[in-house]
Formats: sequence, C-alpha cells, structure tokens
Amino acid sequence: MKKKLYIKTYGCQMNVYDTERMVDVMAPEGYEETETPDDADLVVLNTCHIREKAAEKVYSDIGRIRKMKDAKKEKGDEMVLAVGGCVAQAEGAEIMKRAPIVDMVFGPQTYHNLPDMVNKSLELKSEGQKSRILDTDLAVDEKFDQLSKKEVKQKPTAFLTIQEGCDKFCTFCVVPYTRGSEFSRSIDDIMTDAKKLADAGVVEVTLLGQNVNAFHGTADDGSEWGLPQLIRELAKIDGFERIRYTTSHPHDMTDELLEVHGDLEECMPYLHLPVQAGSDRILKAMNRTHDSASYKKIIADLRKQRPDIALSGDFIVGFPGETEEDFEATMDLVREVKYAQAYSFKYSPRPGTPAAEMEDQVDEDVKSARLARLQALLKEQQTEFNNSVIGKTFPVLIEAKGKTEDTVFGRSPYMQAVQVKVGADKIEELLGKIVEVKIEDANAFNIQGVLV
Ligand code: 5AD
Ligand code: SF4
Repeated sequence: MKKKLYIKTYGCQMNVYDTERMVDVMAPEGYEETETPDDADLVVLNTCHIREKAAEKVYSDIGRIRKMKDAKKEKGDEMVLAVGGCVAQAEGAEIMKRAPIVDMVFGPQTYHNLPDMVNKSLELKSEGQKSRILDTDLAVDEKFDQLSKKEVKQKPTAFLTIQEGCDKFCTFCVVPYTRGSEFSRSIDDIMTDAKKLADAGVVEVTLLGQNVNAFHGTADDGSEWGLPQLIRELAKIDGFERIRYTTSHPHDMTDELLEVHGDLEECMPYLHLPVQAGSDRILKAMNRTHDSASYKKIIADLRKQRPDIALSGDFIVGFPGETEEDFEATMDLVREVKYAQAYSFKYSPRPGTPAAEMEDQVDEDVKSARLARLQALLKEQQTEFNNSVIGKTFPVLIEAKGKTEDTVFGRSPYMQAVQVKVGADKIEELLGKIVEVKIEDANAFNIQGVLV
C-alpha cells in the first residue's frame, strides 16, 4: 500500500521548489502526496524564516499535528514528523529541545537525505527508541547532484533553481546565515535539468535563486556564464517559450542582462527587483549597495529595452532610524517608478542580524501606519496597471482550471492572474497551451478575458 506524505510549504518560491523535489525523492520510497496531515505517514513542515513570528507559526502547527500523531499511534501506526527549510536551519537544535514530538529536523541543503532520514527514524521507533535526527549541513552542491538524477513530474510551468545563498548581507536579512554563501550550479547540470523539463512538456520556466542575477555558472569547457548567457541558451531549447527569473538584486542588474529583455521574446516582460526603501540614508544602513538614483537608472534603462515591462518590488517600512522624511522618500520612489505588483513588510528584527541590534528601532504603531499608507498606494498602482490592459490582446499560458465551471486560469506575460471564459468542453484541451486572450475586465487582483 502507498504511504502518505503531507508537506506544508511556508514562504517563498524556493520552498515551493524544494517541496516538489521532496515529493520526487520520496516517490521511489512508495510515498504519495496527500492534501491533509490527518492520516499521513510522513509530515514535513517546509519552513520559511523571513516573515515575522515565523518560528511561532511552526510551533503552533507542530501543536496541531501532535494530536494527529497521537491518534495515529493509538491505532498502532507511526507518523514521522519532520521540520525542514530555513527555520530548521536557523533554529534546529532549539526545535529539537522545545518540541520533543518532532522526529527530525533538516536544513534546506539536506533534503536529498530525506529517504535515509525517514528510514532511520522508523528503525529507531521500531526498536522502541526515540527518533531524534538533526541534519543542517550547508554543503549545497551535493544536494543538486543527487536531484539531477531523479525524474521530474510536470505541469506547464516549472521552477528551476540555478543559484542559492547570498553574500550581500543586507543588515535586516537572515538569508546569508540560513542559506549560506552564494553558490551557482554548473551549466551542465542546469542544462540537463532544463532539457528534462522541456521534454516533460514545460513551456514556462522560472529560474530561481536568492540572488539569481549574481549567477555565474561554470561550463564543461571551464568558461563562466552569467545569467544573460544562460537565458540566451535556455531560450534555444525547443519547447521553452517563456523564461522568467527571480529574485534579482539591483547590484547585479548588468547592461547585458537588460539587453536580454530587449532582444529575446522568450524573456517575459516582468521583473521583480526589490528596492526595499527610497531613502539613501536608510539604503546605506541596510547595506544595499545601491541608492535610489542608481535603482531608478536601472528602471529607466530597462524601459528603453522593453517599454512595456511590468515591475514588482519588495519594500520594508520602519527600518531602524527611519524618519517620516525617509518614509516619504519611499512613497516618492513608488510614485515615480510605478509598480504592477509588490510585496511590502514592516521591518521585523531577526536575531543575529546587525539591524536587530540597532538602537533606534521604530515603534510598532508607526510601522503599521506607514505600511498601511504604502500598501494603499501599491494597491492603487496594481489596480491601475490591471485596468491599463483592458481591451488589449496578449498570449496567456493556461495553467489550470479556473474559478468557475467554464473558465481556465493562466498568466499574462506581465504575471497577472487571468481568468479566461472558454466553455466547459474546452478546458482539458487548453491546459498547458498558450492562447491569445482579449482582456475585458480587471480589478486589483486579477483580470478577465475571452479567447480570440
Ligand atoms: N523584516 C521585514 N522584511 C524583511 N524581508 C527580509 N528580511 C526582513 C525583515 N527582517 C523582506 C525583504 C525581502 C523579502 C523577501 O522579505 O523585503 O526582499
Ligand atoms: Fe537577503 Fe539582501 Fe541577500 Fe536579498 S540580497 S537575500 S535581502 S541579504
């Protein structure tokens, strides 16, 4: 009988990708993914450390799962409970101590060991011992090597991790500590995975990395490729019609990369380019290595290459020392750049990062008020952007069934969520296809259209 695997994914696309790979590595062991943790044989919490109170959410989930685990045990069955991802990496030993119910804790670089860890855990249990496995090694290349050998199952869109970790050390961020230093996969490994994805029917590939545009992979002949060359080569692969990449840092937004946006129709007109703040004083304190003028210059140059490009960003309000004037500089930058979509956060001190130690922390209510103002502006811009495409026709990649019986869901070139009216009988044949859609209506969150 198949065993059941439940994975809860918190946070970013990197984790969504890691979850898919965990499903892949457990499949040969007889594990099948299930929608709920109730009766699962293996439960993995794939955690994210970026958000505020990330660890607290994990502990409260562990509390809920504990009851299910106990119920299963009463029936004479075992549930293995594992905590993976970035909280595990950052606070592994602490989790083991605080939550004895957890059988194993593993970091983002070790999930290829998952089958061995699970088997070891079951073995310990069958011997009547407590299962306590902690694996938070940061050796990245080994993980990739092992995964390349696994077969992949596919939807029309896929993530492909090309780079991990970060050496930028923004003073608010835990990534350099939890994901380790910057590491690029080899060109050969990436191309092998890319061809597998294309063979499996993937039409749109999103290249992932915490610092994706810092990518510098080595090819077999010893030459080094940056992201621009990699995108150009990937675009030649039959089947890949759309290429995206995320997340980029302004520091590594080279002219060559901007030219790729102008030259290649496969490179989608959408870019997530976090700026974090508009005040140069705050950007300096954040150790961002760019100022607001250099960021705006990149955007202007990018728009010369691709005038219709849609922009997305990340913002932090209430960084230590942020004055009203500093915050207004962020609002001004947003007004000037105009975003199609964005993520914004209240600054939250992460233990072990320099900003957490800074003295002039901003009051919580000030942060909340600023966040509300920024989010209102961003929502206005998002609505405006969505409205601006009403009446336009563009290609939409159909990814799934839509909200109603006679619609399908897809993404516009600009990453907008599109609901397309097609008629119930057409749904199956459209899945995975790129079709021309005329947009008829829009709101802040999605746009609606019909086939042309
Ligand atoms: N507080 C608030 N937001 C943060 N981010 C990262 N660290 C913090 C923090 N300590 C945000 C940044 C980053 C995004 C992924 O999360 O905006 O770009
Ligand atoms: Fe964190 Fe800065 Fe690196 Fe992004 S660039 S992962 S925000 S340290």
